[in-house]
Amino acid sequence: MTLPRLPLACTAMFMAVLAGFAAPVGAADATASTAPALLDITPIADDYFVPDRFKGKTVLVTGGARGIGRMSAIRAAREGANVVVADILEKEGQATVAEIVAGGGKAIFVRVDVRSTEDCDRMVAETVKAFGSLDVALNAAGVMDAVPPADAVDLASQRSQIFAPIHEATDEYWQTTMDVNATGVFKSMRSQLRQLLKQGRGGSIVNIGSIAGLIGLAGNPAYVASKHAVTGITRNGAIDYAPHGIRVNSVNMAATETPMTDAAFRKVRAVQQERAADPALAGAPNMGMLKTQSLLMFADSKHRMSTPAEQAAVILFLLSPESSNITGATWATDGGWTAF
Ligand SMILES: NC(=O)c1ccc[n+]([C@@H]2O[C@H](COP(=O)([O-])OP(=O)(O)OC[C@H]3O[C@@H](n4cnc5c(N)ncnc54)[C@H](O)[C@@H]3O)[C@@H](O)[C@H]2O)c1
Repeated sequence: MTLPRLPLACTAMFMAVLAGFAAPVGAADATASTAPALLDITPIADDYFVPDRFKGKTVLVTGGARGIGRMSAIRAAREGANVVVADILEKEGQATVAEIVAGGGKAIFVRVDVRSTEDCDRMVAETVKAFGSLDVALNAAGVMDAVPPADAVDLASQRSQIFAPIHEATDEYWQTTMDVNATGVFKSMRSQLRQLLKQGRGGSIVNIGSIAGLIGLAGNPAYVASKHAVTGITRNGAIDYAPHGIRVNSVNMAATETPMTDAAFRKVRAVQQERAADPALAGAPNMGMLKTQSLLMFADSKHRMSTPAEQAAVILFLLSPESSNITGATWATDGGWTAF
């Protein structure tokens, strides 16, 4: 059976309707009448928001100085939230706050190292002091390895800090990654949950995990182990705090455009170049190239990564009452990475 072909005008109208969600790949494809058009998915706009969804609510964001945490903090403020930006990077954290305030929102910065119990307790105390209570929390602070977040990539001086397979891995790389990503989420949640329990009116916590919390990834064992810990503590929190009306979920993304991925790609390239120049390693299979793209990265004509705004959209949904029946979920916000 042959399907009736749509007249060209009708096709053009259809493309115009789709324009908000997808765009044709190349001019020729937009008018092609014999083959289905190839379309790139359009990411949600950076300035998109749901008016008043968090009106009067207080949102605490660890890792709010940069990347996914920053974008989530800014959008939460646009949606009416009082925002607490907690991060180890003071200048960048203050810049997030300044951007929120310039846009008419309310925010404060608290300098926090999530590895510290005192700092985590203080960030919640400062939240309550500034805004009266804590309603929801996003735990976005995280690292790829032991290289401090703001440091430029330099393989020679950072050898003991950069990710490496287990037989080459140092204690420093392992311990720092576990301390920030696993213990940091535990300590952040503990301080947040004590406050939510004290208030007695429920709440919602979102932890940022990773595809590395759902599957293995080549060459970064501490990151994979630490993100599996985030998956575990998310599920555990969901069980223990459901009777208190507190939901706990995680988002588990693949490559997203942030300073962290930028640094990670520089490191991977530096390590690859070094290995290519070493005759002892030149013939070894490069496990880092085993799988490099999500389904949507592969299908996209420019192989684009996820944007922080795409992640913030799901994060804020999970923090909001719109997700009232969702807890213990480890959402793969990964462009289909874990689907194959
Ligand atoms: N970007 C990606 O592709 C990707 C993929 C999977 C998971 N993630 C996760 O998303 C989260 C956000 O990462 P991002 O990509 O936005 O990176 P990012 O480096 O831009 O942001 C991470 C933030 O965490 C902060 N931070 C690091 N260590 C800290 C500490 N000890 N105490 C307090 N703050 C600390 C950093 O200063 C930074 O502001 C992380 O948990 C990361 O593991 C990112």
